[in-house]
Amino acid sequence: GLPPVVRIVEVGPRDGLQNEAGFVPTETKVALIERLRAAGIRHIEAAAFVSPKWVPQMADGAEVLRRVRPAWRAQAGAAPVRFAALVPNLKGMAAALEAGCDEVAVFAAASETFSRRNINCSIEESFARFQPIAQLAHANGIALRGYVSCVLGCPFEGRIAPEQVAVVAQRLVDMGCHEVSLGDTIGVGTPAATEALVAACAARVPIGALAGHFHDTWGMAIANIHAAMRCGVATFDSSVAGLGGCPYSPGATGNVATEDVVYLCDGLGVTTGVDFARASEAGEFISAALGRPTSSRAARAFAAR
Ligand code: HMG
Ligand code: MG
Repeated sequence: GLPPVVRIVEVGPRDGLQNEAGFVPTETKVALIERLRAAGIRHIEAAAFVSPKWVPQMADGAEVLRRVRPAWRAQAGAAPVRFAALVPNLKGMAAALEAGCDEVAVFAAASETFSRRNINCSIEESFARFQPIAQLAHANGIALRGYVSCVLGCPFEGRIAPEQVAVVAQRLVDMGCHEVSLGDTIGVGTPAATEALVAACAARVPIGALAGHFHDTWGMAIANIHAAMRCGVATFDSSVAGLGGCPYSPGATGNVATEDVVYLCDGLGVTTGVDFARASEAGEFISAALGRPTSSRAARAFAAR
């Protein structure tokens, strides 16, 4: 059966925007996050404390967090929103602590080449860097999330064996990650491959600790999410309007659109707590700000109805 409730982790402000060529003003990022919150999203990846030389778009993360957090605290009676940021090393962790994140996410890869291209170190070295981050997260009472990239294929190495992913996922959980997000970075996966992947990972870590992070490059993201849901995965990352790409994975397009995931779940009778129309409004807002049509099929149909 399907999980009765699915948690959506909105990664638009980070994964969605990180690849934008033109700098998106801080004010626009803040306004986007406010609209996402208003749509009922309760888990938002809002920043990446990475090198601004590598990803200039994320350079204003501290300011984004500074501006959105007080407004959230002031919302009496509103469900708390969890704020996450990517951190690759101790320098990033110091910035995330300073900014007052609720959650930090370390990002590993299932492919050696992708690890080097993305964070300039081997998989083994990346875990040596993550270890002190995990300790600091624990000491400061901050949730720790882990990503594995290239779970269904690598732009440099091609096919990735499910077991290769499962080993990395288990290392992240052993290190203290409450959740491991499985990233189909280049969006090549299909439902059968997704099922094999989830089965391999669930043999090593609790199914409740797995999240799906599907890019929609080959148009399979919604099908893959449905397949993963049928295997018991109940947390999915998405970007409003289907924003995004990855600067270190050539050809990758956006994340699955949040609106499409909400439409799928609404149709299946699975609760997300996210309002489709208001999520579409957030998507319209950022699409207009970027001067591009939305990539969400459901939002497009909704606007044209
Ligand atoms: P490096 O060049 O090896 O780092 O990069 P370094 O330690 O040698 O430092 C070089 C310079 O960067 C120094 O400055 C550091 O201070 C600075 P300089 O002395 O030259 O002026 N620096 C930093 N500045 C700010 N914040 C920091 C930081 N660290 C160093 N945290 C590094 C290594 C990891 C820093 C770099 O490779 C990097 O920032 N990579 C991030 C790449 C990235 O953000 N990729 C996209 C996110 S991952 C993704 O999208 C996949 C995901 O969505 C899942 C999926 O789809 O699969 C999560
Ligand atoms: Mg991604």
